[in-house]
Amino acid sequence: MSEVQTVDNMVTITIDGIEFKAKEGEYILNAARANDVFIPAICYLTRCSPTLACRICLVEADGKQVYACNAKVKEGMEITVDTPNILEERRAIMEVYDVNHPLQCGVCDKAGECELQNYTLELGVDSQSYTIPDGKRESANWSSVLHYDAGLCIVCERCTTVCKDMIGDAAISTTKRGGADLDKGYKDTMPKDAYSMWNKLQKSIIAPSNGTGETNCSDCGECIAVCPVGALVSRDFVYTSNAWDLRRIPAVAAHSSDGAQIYYEVRPTSIEDRREKIFRVTNEWSYVSLDGSARFAYDFQNTTANKDEVKFNAAIEAFKKAKTIRFNSMITNEEALMLQTLKEKMGVKLYNPEVKAFQSFLNHYEAASGNALWTTDTDSVMKNSDFVISIGAALRNDSPAMKYAFNNVQKLNKGAGFYFHPVGDTLIPTFGKSVEVFNHKVGLEEAALYLVLDLFTDKEKLPKEVSTYIQSFKRQETETIKEKQVKTVKEMVLNEETGEEEEVSKKVTEMVKKEITVERNGLVDLLGGNASKFDAVFEKMMKKKETFTLFLGEDLYYHEKAENIAKLVALVEATSSINVVMTPPKSNALGVALICELDDSAEGYTVGYNENGDFKLSALGTGDLDMPAMNQQEGTLCNIGKRVLPTNAALEYEGYELNDLMKVLVDAPELTIDWTAMLPQDRGFKAVAFDTLPNAFTNDGKDNRGYTLVPTNLEVELPSVTEVDESLCLEGDIAYRCNPARQFNDFTDKSHEIFEKFALYASKTKAESLGERVEVVFDNGSITLDVVIDEKMTGDIVKISDFRAAEGVYDLFGKSRYKNVTLRKV
Ligand code: SF4
Ligand code: SF4
Ligand code: FES
Repeated sequence: MSEVQTVDNMVTITIDGIEFKAKEGEYILNAARANDVFIPAICYLTRCSPTLACRICLVEADGKQVYACNAKVKEGMEITVDTPNILEERRAIMEVYDVNHPLQCGVCDKAGECELQNYTLELGVDSQSYTIPDGKRESANWSSVLHYDAGLCIVCERCTTVCKDMIGDAAISTTKRGGADLDKGYKDTMPKDAYSMWNKLQKSIIAPSNGTGETNCSDCGECIAVCPVGALVSRDFVYTSNAWDLRRIPAVAAHSSDGAQIYYEVRPTSIEDRREKIFRVTNEWSYVSLDGSARFAYDFQNTTANKDEVKFNAAIEAFKKAKTIRFNSMITNEEALMLQTLKEKMGVKLYNPEVKAFQSFLNHYEAASGNALWTTDTDSVMKNSDFVISIGAALRNDSPAMKYAFNNVQKLNKGAGFYFHPVGDTLIPTFGKSVEVFNHKVGLEEAALYLVLDLFTDKEKLPKEVSTYIQSFKRQETETIKEKQVKTVKEMVLNEETGEEEEVSKKVTEMVKKEITVERNGLVDLLGGNASKFDAVFEKMMKKKETFTLFLGEDLYYHEKAENIAKLVALVEATSSINVVMTPPKSNALGVALICELDDSAEGYTVGYNENGDFKLSALGTGDLDMPAMNQQEGTLCNIGKRVLPTNAALEYEGYELNDLMKVLVDAPELTIDWTAMLPQDRGFKAVAFDTLPNAFTNDGKDNRGYTLVPTNLEVELPSVTEVDESLCLEGDIAYRCNPARQFNDFTDKSHEIFEKFALYASKTKAESLGERVEVVFDNGSITLDVVIDEKMTGDIVKISDFRAAEGVYDLFGKSRYKNVTLRKV
């Protein structure tokens, strides 16, 4: 299977008399933006459904007034952006938005980057034609991060739309506000669209959807990002800085493997303290959505570092006697290449339990499929896919990009989805009506892949023994159904003319019971589904579906039968039109997997890099020698989109870097970024210098940061696979290594706006049965943790955080993500 290419059909349109090419079926607004043409628009968000809340995007297309955000281009379409009537509507809309808006821009957090300010100026609103009495609109704090100032809200619905269509939490929505009714006279005197918009505006306000006054959401902050005014702000940022004081540093969010585009926004800490500080993180929200770690876990820099020669020399000695270097995925590609160089030149072992299982899985997948990397990415999935199957990922916790894509496909592409996972999650079914959840037993992930083979592949292409094995799950059952039958009955009726009774024939419909033989799919039952209902459900899900995607998560890499699973995935790809996305577990796991030859275990004297060790290099400032944190260094990271992305230093760093040690230990270039062009080309990297890497999106939203890895794709034989091993299923108390959303590592934990605890997370019922604190006993040790209720979890499996390296959770779980444990109340 080769890399998915989407060839868009193009049409020719004219905008204000100039000819442009546009993607067929694209909204006029997006087509204009892709061609650098400006059409005013407030409520529309690319990648979300149009809501028509603002109506300011009015244009004329082929002589008719349409909304550019929901009218699609057609071949030969002639579009006029401004007509006298449209200009009148737009101006009236902006006047309405300014009615009762406090206009205290001097103290507003949004001043300087406010779309209300911008459009008011753009449309030349210098007087006000409309008035209405204002009522009190209360401010509120929701969840941990959000501050909502209802007085500033223009009810554009961007926040509610992004939360529903992109993030998947649907945690906020419009609700009644009971504002004053409009003066009836306006209906006849003011422009029509402006009147309708105002009418709605007067009646609505934003509030948490669940009616509790709390959002209980994933605290991603994307609603803040898209708010065009100062109505939604992070509580932490409120009244701290003005937009024009902040300098933007383009970077990559370092914590999850999304590699999301971010800007660190910095300025001097205060008048007295001129050292730069990160005040917030922003993003190109039209093209990328952040999770809470990317937006809020930004202040993890190493501030205590200095150049202490004694410590530096001790580090050199530690490396010279080291048998092992233990590290994790919070490392740039350049640093990973440095460690690999140490392995090659000094014979040291490289131990990275976060990445090792993933690397082995990739190797198995490459051997079985001929593809060095998965075949699609989450951006393409959002654009093109309409059926997503997720296996082995706790979507809400593991991979924001996968969660958003899974949800977005349901919302925007009229999609369907299967979610296979042992841990129940009440959020997943809310993504769409055509989402089927299989909470299967731990260990049955192979069965999920066999079901995918059964449902989606061309059976002719499958090896005979695989089809026979799949068929062995099918059973014949007799089912009684009711069927309509038309019968002819004879009855005697009175002929009114003759007065005599006559026999007449009549057709009557009646329901009769009938026994039929049906085939049931035992794989569905095995996976916790209901085989007797499944066929009808699946038939409905498949209606008009064309583009299928398989999401694979970390559970599969740590599966006892990971090799067989990788082969099954290769078989799925070779025999169906399904394309695959794999989530690299955390940060730069993909870069490490491609660059480093990792060992199975650590031995002897160990240097830990942000990990435990006899000598510790630490970007957290807690080790024997300081290192720069990811927001203090330049370099590249690989992400779930298979891209090599440049990130930049937002803050100063005064200590040594890994490359300083390299210069003493082996032959090393002058700068860390001199390693960028040396990244291994046989693993898909390009010989490109760091300073020449692009770092932006194109106008039509294409990610153009860095470059895409060039994976090898070879023709290989179909792999031979083994059957499901049900004996691997776990029963009893089961712990699952899984972090709360927003926590990925010690650096997220260090950041002051991330507060999710290192703890045991459980469903409400399970947590209540456990009490406040438990000792979790593994076969090789134990850990004592507070119990925290995760309101969205169901079932008895408990989640144990792994984000603090010092707690040694990876060692407790070993080569598995699920373990049988004993839970003892403390
Ligand atoms: S809070 Fe902001 S984004 Fe949400 S409706 Fe109000 S103005 Fe729009
Ligand atoms: S923080 Fe994120 S999840 Fe919460 S309401 Fe805003 S967009 Fe929705
Ligand atoms: S942008 Fe089209 S209606 Fe708001």
